[in-house]
Amino acid sequence: MESVAFAAQDKSSRYRELAPQLASLLDGEPDLVANLANAAAAIRACVPRTSWVGFYIKRGDELVLGPFQGNVACVRIALGRGVCGTAAAERRTLIVPDVEKFAGHIACDAGSRSEIVVPILRRGELVAVLDLDSYELAAFDDLDAAGLAPIAELLSTLAW
Ligand code: SME
Repeated sequence: MESVAFAAQDKSSRYRELAPQLASLLDGEPDLVANLANAAAAIRACVPRTSWVGFYIKRGDELVLGPFQGNVACVRIALGRGVCGTAAAERRTLIVPDVEKFAGHIACDAGSRSEIVVPILRRGELVAVLDLDSYELAAFDDLDAAGLAPIAELLSTLAW
């Protein structure tokens, strides 16, 4: 199969290149774990400054670690806790330029400096969050939020 590839350097263009490649990767495959695993790898390739890219899936009132790329990570996060749990509870994207300044940040990897968490909503219901971490301060901004929104929308159509 084809690998994902990105010609552009600027991040908005790279996210625009990601969307159709991801759609084609997911097309025709019903298995959620397989699709999330490939999605994590494709997003990591698209956003080179990431140290970690992955999913936390809503199970009851917790988030449970799903497929990811990067170091081993915390397995369970209560809704409302940490950046992931807060984004999930508030169902909105959170950009954290400096994790040390986010009260309650959960340090899975002591090297992580900044983070963006995007909720995945299916018919208005939270099914998971997409989490990107970086070893660089302020690695993520509104361009990442805008670029990842259609990706989260696409992922919301999977078999959650
Ligand atoms: N830092 C996150 C926890 C998940 S890891 O970064 C992979 C948080 O505060 O929710």
